[in-house]
Order: sequence, then structure tokens, then C-alpha cells
Amino acid sequence: MEQKRKLTTRSIKKAKGKRTLSMLTCYDFQTANILNQTHLDMILVGDSLGNVVLGYDTTVKVSLEEMTIFASAVKRGAPNTFTVADLPFGTYGSMEMGLKNAFSLYQKSGVEALKLEGSSPQKCELISRLTDNGVAVMGHLGLTPQSVHEQGGYYTHGKTEESFTKIVEQAIALQKAGCFATVLECVTEELSEKITKELTIPTIGIGCGSQVDGQVLVINDLLKMGQETPPSFCKPIANLFDLKKELVNSYLTNTLMIATETMEDGSFKH
Ligand code: KIV
Repeated sequence: MEQKRKLTTRSIKKAKGKRTLSMLTCYDFQTANILNQTHLDMILVGDSLGNVVLGYDTTVKVSLEEMTIFASAVKRGAPNTFTVADLPFGTYGSMEMGLKNAFSLYQKSGVEALKLEGSSPQKCELISRLTDNGVAVMGHLGLTPQSVHEQGGYYTHGKTEESFTKIVEQAIALQKAGCFATVLECVTEELSEKITKELTIPTIGIGCGSQVDGQVLVINDLLKMGQETPPSFCKPIANLFDLKKELVNSYLTNTLMIATETMEDGSFKH
């Protein structure tokens, strides 16, 4: 592969309308190294790391310290790939706290942008203050996992007229606040298409069809790295869970068994 051209917020915005933007989550140095050697446009150090790496039941438990450690590791492994880190739950509940924690994560990890969920007037004000201070911010609307209990579970948004209209307004508010792009998670295809047409910034969809400017997936789902079945919108391209298990079992039965069998004096090596 020729030298990868690292994207910037400018080139990401220029990709509006092309439907080509690619983004995958990543949480560790070695995987970041691999992604850095592919044509992937953007890495997301998502707070889904709470589920897939740390085994938490929701993303609510992810702390700023954990996010800083994982985002820094990813950035060291993928210096040449535009990387976004999630601001964890409870770290941007007030303006003062949000600014302090966002600056800290941004500065310590070296990522190119931060992502935060929701679009209340307070959050939009925070986004404006961050962008004023030079921090690139990506929005996240629809199913926002940090609000799983407040939203009443994981489900597709935008099915009612009220929810449809509200999310369109939220997307416009995020754009006005200064987001360079926004994630749309689990909204109806009709709604993601409407928002994509309405906004001048790119939309990055997950579980909301193809009428968006780009797609993001959790890499652990795409490669099926866990035991659980990935969400229905993600068709895995491998089964690394089974493959790794088979490889370890094969190592144990073939390699180790041979080593334990045959010492010259008849004793076992192990
Ligand atoms: O944390 C995450 O992985 C995310 C994606 C699902 C968009 O926010």
C-alpha cells in the first residue's frame, strides 16, 4: 500500500455526499497498528470498550482514566489515522467538568477529535466552547448507549413522527454548535436519509441503512471476536473467537502433548 493519506476534519467534510467514509472502533495498540496499514478513514476509540474489552454490562461504567489509557494506546499504534475518542458517561455533565475532562482526554491521548452523545442546549454549548478552543467534535444521535436507561433500552429511533422531527432538529443543532460530523446510531433508514440530506456535515451511520455519508462498526462485531452474536446490522467477515479457540486447543493438543511425551529417560518433560 502506498503511504496512507491521513484525513483531517477538512477532508472528512469534503467527503460529504460520497458515501465513502469508513470508520471502525479500535481499543489497543496492535489492532491500531493493523488499521493504520489499511485504507480505513477513521478510528473510533468508542466507550463500547466497556462492553467488549472490560466486560461491563453498559458503557456507563467506563471512566475517563480508562478512556485515556485506551485512546493513548490506539493513537500510538495508529499515528497516521484520524482517531476519535468518546467522552465517557458522567464526564461532561456540567460546562466546567466537560471542558476540563475533554481537554484532559484530548491532550493526554493525542486523538484528533472527541465524540459526545446527545444535543441538549447545554451539550451544544459545550461543543461550541470546545470547538472555539480548537477541539474537533463529532456528535452522536439516535440510540445513545450512555443514556440506555433514560431512553428505555436499545431500540431503533425515529419511528414516530415526534421522534423523527426531534432527531432532525437535534442534528441541525449539532451542526450549528460546530460538530464536523455526526454518528447516527439505530435510527430508521428514512430518518438517516433525511438528516444526511439536511446537513452539510457528514453523517456516519451504524444500524441505520446505507443512505448516510459513512459507516462505523465495532471491530469486535465485524471480526466476531466475542462469544455473543453481533447485532443484526453487522455481518461478520470472520469468526476470530472460534479461530483463536481452535488455535489454542490445537497448540495444547499437538505442540504441548508432543513435548510432554518423550524425554529420553522415559520421564515427562512437564
Ligand atoms: O462506542 C462506540 O463504539 C460507539 C459506536 C457504536 C458508534 O459509539
